[in-house]
Amino acid sequence: MWTDAILAYLHFAAILTLVWFLAKEWTLLRAGAPNIDTERLAGADAGFGITAMLVLVTGGLRAVYGAKGWSFYAHNPAFHVKVTLFVIVGLVSIAPTIAFIRWRKARRASLVAQRLGAGRTDQRQTASCFAQRRDEAGDRASMLVSEMA
Ligand code: HEM
Repeated sequence: MWTDAILAYLHFAAILTLVWFLAKEWTLLRAGAPNIDTERLAGADAGFGITAMLVLVTGGLRAVYGAKGWSFYAHNPAFHVKVTLFVIVGLVSIAPTIAFIRWRKARRASLVAQRLGAGRTDQRQTASCFAQRRDEAGDRASMLVSEMA
């Protein structure tokens, strides 16, 4: 009885967490294409995937070790439909997961490119500043020499 209650609790907890991650993804996607926080979106999607596995595992444990026993579910059409739908949704969600990972990769690549660009600009600015100082020092030195002469 305790096993059944604990497994039921874990199954519910996993389902609620799954819904939470789904809501988080939905909220992040609503920001619109250019403003989507791809880091958080890919993170939420990873959480969604992990939690989906937990739903599957806790559901499987309920089916095997729950009060009704596996023989009840093995020939239960409702159970088969439920698991089939779960697997279909899992397969359908592979494409968005790949897209989110690509978006995050592209964003990271563009950030690195921006930083490298900024670094080059800094180097160029430092070099021209150096050249200016050197010229000024040269001018002062030649003024000193001409004053001494
Ligand atoms: C997002 C997907 C799923 C949702 C929303 C969901 C939802 C539910 C709900 C609301 C219950 C009844 C509440 C309870 O007694 O705790 C339940 C029971 C159950 N679920 Fe799931 N479930 C999902 C996926 C799965 C999967 C993938 C499996 C199997 C691998 C599974 C196996 C079970 C079993 C064995 C029960 C007990 C049913 C009974 O009392 O006879 N569930 N599920």
